[in-house]
Amino acid sequence: MRKVLIVGIGAGDPDQLTIQAIKALNQADVLFIPDKGPKNAGLRRIRIDICDRHIERRPYRSVDFDVPVRDRHPADYAATVAAWHAEIAALYEQLILTELGPDECGAFLVWGDPGFYDSTLRIIDRLHDAGLAFDHEVVPGISSVQALAARHRIPLNRIGEPLLVLPGRRLGDRMPEDAGSVVVMLDGAGAFNRIDPDGVEIFWGGCLGTKDEVLIAGRLADVRDEIEAARAGLQERIGWVMDTYLLRRIADDE
Ligand SMILES: C[S@@+](CC[C@H](N)C(=O)[O-])C[C@H]1O[C@@H](n2cnc3c(N)ncnc32)[C@H](O)[C@@H]1O
Repeated sequence: MRKVLIVGIGAGDPDQLTIQAIKALNQADVLFIPDKGPKNAGLRRIRIDICDRHIERRPYRSVDFDVPVRDRHPADYAATVAAWHAEIAALYEQLILTELGPDECGAFLVWGDPGFYDSTLRIIDRLHDAGLAFDHEVVPGISSVQALAARHRIPLNRIGEPLLVLPGRRLGDRMPEDAGSVVVMLDGAGAFNRIDPDGVEIFWGGCLGTKDEVLIAGRLADVRDEIEAARAGLQERIGWVMDTYLLRRIADDE
């Protein structure tokens, strides 16, 4: 039976692959490499570097595929995402059926960890629900959330307090009540600028794990302009920026 490995590859640093992930890449007959267009060529390059560095056999077989582009400002968010997923599912089905022999194994290289704000596993479920026969396995990866905590040398939660992880569009104009600490991902628009900065600190990471990584931490009111400038600088210099950050109330004794 065909087999598909969903391999978490870390958030940009080729040193962040687990031994399990390296074994999975070496087990796969075919590596599926997403191409998100010229603006994101740097992300494709990192995936290629990871394969070149960790796959032992030469040559190894890789197949590029164009990732369908999603409308970033849809009138109906849920319907747009559903249609986008359907498009990707059709693409994955085609890759599995045409690029893998009946007993071959393919690997999708998933950024960070497949369990954090990534839809690959939902797409795989969709294919199974539609009756496509293949086995699959998931290999965890180092998420950008873990990379953020490690690079700032902080625990993500305060003792006994909750940790909320949300996409930037779900951050309102104040710190969510009772959230403790809040990790924000998928924020293309500097959502931290919307919240009242009074008494709030931020630990920000842009392009974590890459050679262009930028780290900024401090009182939100003091550093938010610096973060905006860093985001703009990365965008201009390397053409893409992904950022993740932690927000929390400044403790009374700080
Ligand atoms: C589609 S989600 C994928 C998350 C990924 N599965 C993970 O575990 O990190 C993309 C978001 O992850 C975060 N992200 C991924 N890689 C990052 C990096 N190297 N530096 C900072 N943030 C990153 C950003 O918030 C970005 O908008």
